[in-house]
Amino acid sequence: MIENKLTTIFYRSNLNSLEKKDQDLINSAIKSLNLAYAPYSGFSVGASILLENGEIISGNNQENVAYPSGLCAERVAIFYAGSKYPDVKVKTIAVSAVSKKFEIEDVVSPCGACRQAIAEYEVKQEESIRILLHHPDDSVLIVNSVSDLLPFMFKNKRLKQF
Ligand code: THU
Repeated sequence: MIENKLTTIFYRSNLNSLEKKDQDLINSAIKSLNLAYAPYSGFSVGASILLENGEIISGNNQENVAYPSGLCAERVAIFYAGSKYPDVKVKTIAVSAVSKKFEIEDVVSPCGACRQAIAEYEVKQEESIRILLHHPDDSVLIVNSVSDLLPFMFKNKRLKQF
């Protein structure tokens, strides 16, 4: 048996130190989280996506009384982007969150299902998607690819039929 190591590279920065494009995207995610429908968790998440054509698509979490029927902000946003612009590449996704009930200790990091959903588009477009994770204290965690958040992701090009 051979031991192997896998390294993830991530960056920590601050909202004000980022370039304007990234700041705008995060601010758009913050705006979007204020429109979240989160009556059950009180945890509002906003996700904004910068597309290659310059357009920003936003989404927020949509909860449901039958809890699993709700959907995270990241998937609301990426599925909307995929449905509106199926052939336009995703450059960057910004995510921000606040809780009505408690102080969030660190940035919100996409759940496994959202990581897999984002990974689908990264594989499809053959180009990395940057992810900016914003905390209400304005600290930001950055990864240059969803694969940094989801090592050993499931991908199999041969499952594609056409
Ligand atoms: N949620 C998101 O929208 N994105 C995440 O990255 C983590 C969790 C939502 C799902 C649910 O509405 C609430 O936050 C609490 O889990």
